[in-house]
Amino acid sequence: MKDIWIIANWKSNKNISEALDWISQVGPKIPKQDNLKVVVCPTFSALSEVKKAITVGNFPLLVGAQDLSPFGIGAYTGEEPAELLNQLITLTILGHSERRQNFRESDETIAKKTQQALGNNITPLVCVQNEEIPVPEGCKLVAYEPIWAIGTGNPDTPENANVVAEKIKQQYSASIEVVYGGSVHSGNVKDLVMQENINGVLVGSASLDAEEFIKICQVVSE
Ligand code: PGA
Repeated sequence: MKDIWIIANWKSNKNISEALDWISQVGPKIPKQDNLKVVVCPTFSALSEVKKAITVGNFPLLVGAQDLSPFGIGAYTGEEPAELLNQLITLTILGHSERRQNFRESDETIAKKTQQALGNNITPLVCVQNEEIPVPEGCKLVAYEPIWAIGTGNPDTPENANVVAEKIKQQYSASIEVVYGGSVHSGNVKDLVMQENINGVLVGSASLDAEEFIKICQVVSE
């Protein structure tokens, strides 16, 4: 059976108490299934408390970040290096289109961040907006997220997402896993993850609501 990733991207939302409330609701309801990998990516400010709550509750939830530094530890004011973040996270989103647009992140910077993650035991989940955006060397988990589908309620079709995922695998390696992101919710997630080349979903707005996120996990596990 293929792995299925369900990754919650909270973006710049939820204070610590809201984050802990979500964990206490979602944690006990995650279906326990070996091939199901559920990840929550809070803001940096909530990471430590979220990690603690998941450990104490023994929930089948992994913790991820939404970015990390292209540099190691040292004199890089304001940056969060992989070498320190790996105490808290097992995965990081990289190269999201909101970072490429708002922070002028280049493919080169994203490749550096990917190397930092890989060198520090963190799985890089690199977002590409189409099959032409390069997947950095060593990256084994890719999110196909067309910009027009993000936060618009207008997702790509499962069939087209499957075609793009297949092209990415053909171009790089069959061992790459590709998740889809962009207006995913409990009503469309099943059709997406049923596609042969799609290994899960990256969920933004629909992940903020605990009940909706639980529904997404349950629909996928059925
Ligand atoms: P959305 O965001 O689910 O709100 O469309 C997805 C993402 O940006 O990762």
